[in-house]
Amino acid sequence: MLQQPAPKNLNELVFEVSRRRTFAIISHPDAGKTTLTEKLLLYAGAVDLAGAVRARKNQHHATSDWMELEQQRGISITTAALQFDYMGYRINLLDTPGHQDFSEDTYRTLMVTDSAVMVLDSAKGIEPQTKKLFQVCRLRHTPILTFINKLDRPGQDPLGLLDEIEQTLGIGAVPMNWPIGNGPTFKGVYDLINKQVLLFERTEHGQRRAPVQVHDIHDSALAGLLGEIEYRQLVEETELLDAAGASFSREMFLAGEVTPVFFGSAINNFGLESFLRALIDFAPAPGPRASDQGMIEPDHQDFSGQIFKIQANMDPMHRDRVAFLRVCSGRFEKDMLLHHSRLGRKVRMPRAYRFFAREREIVEEAYPGDVVGLANPGLFNIGDTLCSGKLIKFDSIPRFQPEHFCILHNQQIAKYKQFNKGLEQLEEEGAIQVLFLRDSLRKEPILAAVGELQFDVVVARLKAEYGVDTSVERLPFSCARWVECGPGEENGIIWPMSSKLAQDRDERLVVLFQSEWNLNYCQEKNPGIVFKELG
Ligand code: G4P
Repeated sequence: MLQQPAPKNLNELVFEVSRRRTFAIISHPDAGKTTLTEKLLLYAGAVDLAGAVRARKNQHHATSDWMELEQQRGISITTAALQFDYMGYRINLLDTPGHQDFSEDTYRTLMVTDSAVMVLDSAKGIEPQTKKLFQVCRLRHTPILTFINKLDRPGQDPLGLLDEIEQTLGIGAVPMNWPIGNGPTFKGVYDLINKQVLLFERTEHGQRRAPVQVHDIHDSALAGLLGEIEYRQLVEETELLDAAGASFSREMFLAGEVTPVFFGSAINNFGLESFLRALIDFAPAPGPRASDQGMIEPDHQDFSGQIFKIQANMDPMHRDRVAFLRVCSGRFEKDMLLHHSRLGRKVRMPRAYRFFAREREIVEEAYPGDVVGLANPGLFNIGDTLCSGKLIKFDSIPRFQPEHFCILHNQQIAKYKQFNKGLEQLEEEGAIQVLFLRDSLRKEPILAAVGELQFDVVVARLKAEYGVDTSVERLPFSCARWVECGPGEENGIIWPMSSKLAQDRDERLVVLFQSEWNLNYCQEKNPGIVFKELG
């Protein structure tokens, strides 16, 4: 039985909040995130959008290194969130760009999502990236639904997969359906909630919804359809599952303690409709969010929202910067005059957009859970709060500490303006931090990043978006600390020989260490000095 949104006539805001579902997909590359996204759109009837996802997918086959990088951040360019309607619900699928390096963008997105879908490849089970992203969700107790994909290929035993989820991730795994067959013999699933056998039919390239036959498990025709042995196995397995009695508790799911598990095949459209229904039925509507003024309820009449992502050059024709805001409470309206909590002043929001593939559309109104793109003339930082009414500040979005450092050389000195502008704008996106060596003749910037891939992205983007050739020279540091000390204290600090002093754009002192050991040594030698992480 689907949850029903609140009645519309009760209160428009309450109604709009109750019909929102905002989620993100977490997975290891290749598990099927793109395919699942496309198929959810297909099942929701947003077929044009499904085409847009596919178009992006096709780019995947372009081979140059640049295109690879472009593809990696391609998803972020086309969408920060896909919005679609299904059965009266408005679904926001937040984009989690995936590549092998841990992506801070994805991390921040997980800070503003209400639930997550974990996609696993049935042959591979839990892979490293899935585990990392799961742990981020875990910290926030984000409810997670699991979709085990690629059942049409020989995979691991379903019970073994459930066990792996429980053992590796430490979360209860409750099957919601059970696969019938495996690999080439995968024919459908037994729906454990409705106690029905669903048999699917493949369609050409999975472009249409897969026709489904629904049977009672005791239907005499089933043995003929499945084969006598497969049928007997199914009956045995479902009896075992019933006896094991692992029942699903929505409360435990909402607390992030259990995950409902669905088996299927995204490419063949097997098991997708029931998954989409479960998603809107189980996943929570937007909830309250923590701020310096306590929890802010989504149906509070004052508008509030938080910037979680900044993207330069969304549209190469316009070269603009867009800040993405998640609406947290109240109603967003075009042209609103809002408090900018960090700057302590009011800002008007005349240009707010929603993006679909390469298209953008003006947003007239938005509700909690929705994502709005704001044209950003350097006004916003990641984590900023915008609000009407009482001044509030949402809890900051934590940052990961840089572990990789390099000097960035500008190969075309004549283009120093473009170089500086590009670097400033890319820094604003939050994927790199720019530092400058102190007391050195070298005035070239140092890049600090969480993943090494970011350096390649910077070089490629400076070339493509700002027309500047650059190269990187790796530095042997592995951590940085912002130093807090009183006037005159700096001269008394004992630095390890191998460390280097630098400063950020605000001229705050930063020290670069070659190892954690050096950092600990420095802290021990200078007990009165505060060595702060990037915050
Ligand atoms: P990702 O976004 O998580 O990286 O995964 P993506 O959807 O791109 O899927 C990775 C590969 O797995 C794709 O194959 C895709 O077609 C395939 N795939 C997705 N779902 C299923 C499934 O249910 N069954 C099977 N057998 N394969 C599936 P590819 O060869 O890399 O790309 P393509 O040529 O198919 O587009």
